[in-house]
Amino acid sequence: MDILTDGRIIHLITSGSGDIVSINTYGAEFFHAVSPQSLTGKNINGFYANPVDREMYLQRLETKGWIENFEVHFSLGGVVYTCLENAVLKRKTTRGEEEIESVIIDISGFVDSNIQTIKLNLELASVNKKLNDAYSTMAQQEKMASIGELAAGVAHEINNPLGFVMSNSRSLHRYIDAIKKALAQNSLSEEANLAFILEDLAEILKENDEGLTRIARITESLKRFSRMDSENKTEKYRLNEAVRDTLVIAKSHYKYKAEVTTDLREIPPFPCYGDAVNQVILNLIVNASQAIDERYKEKKGHIRISTAVDNGFAVLTVSDNGGGVPESAAGRVFDPFFTTKEVGKGTGLGLSLCYDIIVNKHNGQIWFENNDHGGADFIFKIPMEQGDGT
Ligand SMILES: Nc1ncnc2c1ncn2[C@@H]1O[C@H](COP(=O)(O)OP(=O)(O)OP(=O)(O)O)[C@@H](O)[C@H]1O
Ligand SMILES: [Mg+2]
Repeated sequence: MDILTDGRIIHLITSGSGDIVSINTYGAEFFHAVSPQSLTGKNINGFYANPVDREMYLQRLETKGWIENFEVHFSLGGVVYTCLENAVLKRKTTRGEEEIESVIIDISGFVDSNIQTIKLNLELASVNKKLNDAYSTMAQQEKMASIGELAAGVAHEINNPLGFVMSNSRSLHRYIDAIKKALAQNSLSEEANLAFILEDLAEILKENDEGLTRIARITESLKRFSRMDSENKTEKYRLNEAVRDTLVIAKSHYKYKAEVTTDLREIPPFPCYGDAVNQVILNLIVNASQAIDERYKEKKGHIRISTAVDNGFAVLTVSDNGGGVPESAAGRVFDPFFTTKEVGKGTGLGLSLCYDIIVNKHNGQIWFENNDHGGADFIFKIPMEQGDGT
């Protein structure tokens, strides 16, 4: 608001004691008078909301001879108006009297609108804080949810080899009983059976070795995936190992939906929040397999994960042949709560969490490009030497 062009300028001349000598039309209106003449002779002091204002004003005027942008408050019809007053003290030497000529500007509207703006800003800040708090809580819940989901998937993955190791173990007990019996009876009639048992034993032990190796691999990966402390930077994060571990433990998420291939180039270990970066890899893999699932309900798709070093950055690309990101969603995929998935399937926090981890926590970059296979490439880059010296 331009207060000077607003026409709300009061031009006032008073005597040293405050009697109004002259006032302009707007001034008379402002002081609720019918005309300028009707105010002549009245004392201005009666309009001050706070007499101290007037005293300070006069003191300054006495010492300096003029006053600039002095804030005064007038009480008119029960409403207090905030004004700025500029004045000069004129000595009428002929009569030895003093006159004060002043220009007063009513800035109440301006102050009000400023107060409104400040209030609005405060409200916005508090809404923002609430949103931020809600986001942190949701992000935390999302993390818990994905760990919960992961645990279910891992349990499923372990269940299968565990199932046949246990069933084999029951066969082993039966065979041992049979062998014991044959030895006790020294019975040749058991011979044929024994030959079969010995053959099957070798098969069983081979199968068990395989099953136990698979279980060990899963638990090792799970241990590495989750042992990193998210509060502290892991000194030596091995990105390729993290990709392999994540693929092992996320297997139940993608194995019926996509074939996964990897192209993992040599990447020297680098410092980062390993736990958090693992979450990013997991989110990208889960998103890729969901995109494929949406495109081909029956057929399996393809996910390709590649890593490389580029100019001091560790780069990871998760590429899929799902449906790609539609134009309408392109600017929003990293926004919190943006999802195109059905209710209950996606909270829309996955990629915003990835963004926070890569960009805010690691000064890196994350983006996507739709690829030639109809799907999307999600790519992140992390500087291998973090600027903060950790
Ligand atoms: N690989 C992809 N291909 C196509 N679209 C994708 C891909 N990854 C993400 N998107 C789009 O970005 C949106 C946001 O992804 P984001 O991971 O943040 O949330 P979400 O997967 O929907 O839910 P959540 O991850 O919380 O379970 C998705 O709903 C989807 O529309
Ligand atoms: Mg997601």
